[in-house]
Amino acid sequence: MHREDIKKLLNSDSPKENITLCGWIRTRRDSKSFSFLEVNDGSCLGNIQCIVNEDTPAYKVLTQENIQINTGAAIKVVGDLIESPGKGQKWEVVAKEMEVFGLADPDTFPIQKKRHTDEFLRTIAHLRPRSNKYGAIFRIRSAAALAVHEFFASQDFYYVHTPILTGADCEGAGEMFRVTTLSPDSVASAKRDFSEDFFGKEAHLTVSGQLEAETLAMALGKVYTFGPTFRAENSNTPRHVAEFWMIEPEMAFADLEDDMRLGEDLTKYVINYCLENCLEDLTLFDSFVSKGLLDNLKLIRDAEFRRVTYHEAIDILLACKKEFEYPVTRGQDLQTEHERYLTEEHFKTPVTVYNYPKEIKAFYMRLNDDGETVAAMDMLVPRIGELIGGSQREERLDVLEKRIVELGQDTKDYWWYLDLRRFGTAPHAGFGLGFERLLMLLTGIANIRDVIAFPRTPGNLEF
Ligand code: 4AD
Ligand code: MG
Repeated sequence: MHREDIKKLLNSDSPKENITLCGWIRTRRDSKSFSFLEVNDGSCLGNIQCIVNEDTPAYKVLTQENIQINTGAAIKVVGDLIESPGKGQKWEVVAKEMEVFGLADPDTFPIQKKRHTDEFLRTIAHLRPRSNKYGAIFRIRSAAALAVHEFFASQDFYYVHTPILTGADCEGAGEMFRVTTLSPDSVASAKRDFSEDFFGKEAHLTVSGQLEAETLAMALGKVYTFGPTFRAENSNTPRHVAEFWMIEPEMAFADLEDDMRLGEDLTKYVINYCLENCLEDLTLFDSFVSKGLLDNLKLIRDAEFRRVTYHEAIDILLACKKEFEYPVTRGQDLQTEHERYLTEEHFKTPVTVYNYPKEIKAFYMRLNDDGETVAAMDMLVPRIGELIGGSQREERLDVLEKRIVELGQDTKDYWWYLDLRRFGTAPHAGFGLGFERLLMLLTGIANIRDVIAFPRTPGNLEF
């Protein structure tokens, strides 16, 4: 079907005759001898105004008996793009012909002009992209993904694909979804023997593509993955979903310093890209979701991010005298409220905390010379807390094997991962950035369920 995007029409530099546009009616206003339609096709936030005069075939279609063509209806309009004599828009379309594809009953179509709550819109996740706010989110999501690829391409990283079905447990936190073709009864009786199962061993949805990405980095030098990951954490917070997209770069011949810098540069790059390419949509969020969003994004883009060690961070938190729900304890992981205090109140910029105690971090992180801490880093940002988690990897075979055993795991399960340390091992580092959390930062949206089209959380698997 030949048609012009409304985005293109709104940015036209000259009038045009006989253009075709398609879209959904946002509003209809009738006067005595003509009607105004505001039409949106999702290509941009703006609607185009179509004037339908009574002497046209289009008017006959619009006013035919027994059917109501109003908000939500899908239509095609053929007409002329002219400079608008009215206020509020540069261009409008004088309609000649019109075709109606589908009506939307005003009594039951839920996306009407009035503002709806986010909670309600989550129950109609299949229709919410047709609202201004959610249309804008998914356009920004698309742009941000493109920015990620552009950033890595500009730094000569290769884009690799790691498996979603896996027999490896990367984080070791027991938060995996089991994948099986066994009947529920056989799973119960299988205990730890899954030889009858599809893969002949236990299988799960991946929590991270890191271990496999490391193998590719140790061949191609600089790689990244960008794909879905799954966590069966039973945490109903505004920052956790069971299925989310993670960006995981991995660099050979790199240390923690390189890793922290890459995380900072990536974050700034995506923010700048969206400021340059999504200004109209971001302005909507600045006005209606998070006042001052644009200024805050510019501040983050231009700021020098801070870096502190875990112990320095604990010192700051212990000295701050703020009443936290969870007390600050040296040796324990930071809670979101602690992370937010550091980035929002203390440093007032994103901050990377590094060198965590080994007890609270994953087995693959490189042991520091003190024997107590590992070369881990978490990048924290305002409103969200942890955006990035990463580390330099343990490249020394004996140290890594010892760590796996200490954690009660079997080195045999990691034979291929250990091979990387047997054959041409080298320092390397990487991280994971939660794409939905980045979108929360970009849009000011407070709940992660509203930056992914179909959020998966405990008890929710509609759509
Ligand atoms: O800190 P995490 O668990 O790190 C890893 O998985 C490493 N293997 C990554 C690596 O080094 N290649 O997760 C990384 C990021 C977090 O910082 C957070 O932004 C996001 O993933 N994340 C979640 N986002 C949404 N919902 C959840 N349940 C998330 N869990 C982690
Ligand atoms: Mg983490």
